[in-house]
Amino acid sequence: MAVRLSDHVFAIPVVDNETDLFESLWPLDDGVNYNSYVVVGSEGAAIIDTVHESFFDVYLEKLGEVVDPESVEYVVVNHMEPDHSSSLPMLLEHLPNAKVIVSRTGASLFDLPGTVIPVDDGDEMSLGDVVLKFISTPWAHWPETMITYVLEDEVVFTCDLFGAYGAYPNLNAEDWDVYLLEARRYYVTVLSKYAKFVNSAVSKVKALKPKIVAPGHGIAYSGDSLVQILELYADWSSGHKEGRVLILYGSMYGSVYNAVDTLVQLLEAEGVEVDALDLSREDWSYALTFVLGADVIIIAYPTYDADVFPPVKYFIQTSMDKGLLDGKAIYVIEAHGWSSSEQKLRQLLNGVDVKKVLSFSQKNPLKIEALEDLAGEIISSLGGTE
Ligand code: FEO
Repeated sequence: MAVRLSDHVFAIPVVDNETDLFESLWPLDDGVNYNSYVVVGSEGAAIIDTVHESFFDVYLEKLGEVVDPESVEYVVVNHMEPDHSSSLPMLLEHLPNAKVIVSRTGASLFDLPGTVIPVDDGDEMSLGDVVLKFISTPWAHWPETMITYVLEDEVVFTCDLFGAYGAYPNLNAEDWDVYLLEARRYYVTVLSKYAKFVNSAVSKVKALKPKIVAPGHGIAYSGDSLVQILELYADWSSGHKEGRVLILYGSMYGSVYNAVDTLVQLLEAEGVEVDALDLSREDWSYALTFVLGADVIIIAYPTYDADVFPPVKYFIQTSMDKGLLDGKAIYVIEAHGWSSSEQKLRQLLNGVDVKKVLSFSQKNPLKIEALEDLAGEIISSLGGTE
């Protein structure tokens, strides 16, 4: 079913319950939405973004509920990634009068079908009694991304910005806490690499003072949900910390696990909350949500093939690539049999604030005093316990 959002705006949410991994990387335990929108004006209609081409038939049927194809003057492509744009060629075959609106950057980077109108930041397009304004938001998520604002209805279409995993056929979140975790998971997996640009885009959205924010995934926000998602995005994209301690570890024969377990007990005895994630078993997308909010991160692992234990190595590399270790205090516990991989880890953490490395082996076992000192340093770096 289409969902009416305001006088001139309808949402066409399409649920994908078939894809198991978003971007072939991130688990979709409860599917994902592709949200397209229709703005109906007195002199024509505009479609804002489309859906993944695999769902074109169901999308076209829903679209027909709210708009006559002949009345569609424009299809606005806020973002060219295929989850939002791959239906465009098929859609245009059903829209005899539609022209394609895309950012000038998008027009230069991609071959688009049909008649293309490139737009610049601040350009407007009238549909009679309603006007669309295009606002450049590069790198939220790709270089060509823009957002589209309906001035009269105060609705802004933001595509990936403010998106979430999960299926929302009526654009409602039944469990808000679960929804926020899915929004946070979407942010860390898709957008966190571009945090500086996302932060700028969030400021542009805030400046509009919209009544409704309508993204390409997840729900449409208004009222309290809108206030909350704007604040969360502003936090997440600006070096957000939650005063938490996170241990990211792998363990082959138990010595690293024992060290982690002891450190957790030492910290908890002093009232410090600790999250400890086994990277051999934890899904990366959920682990990244923990990295986002941590102040202090302890990386604990055994050396493997004279290098960092693979699940830890590649998760840390991904966290680095996404900029999620910036500004964190990092401590390291490394175990080895015959050769330390400390230097390999330091190379991996190039540019990150590594406070201390505890390296141990069968010949030089880890002493409880070293872990007590480490716990004390961590507590000091948090400013003491409450
Ligand atoms: Fe949901 Fe960057 O595409």
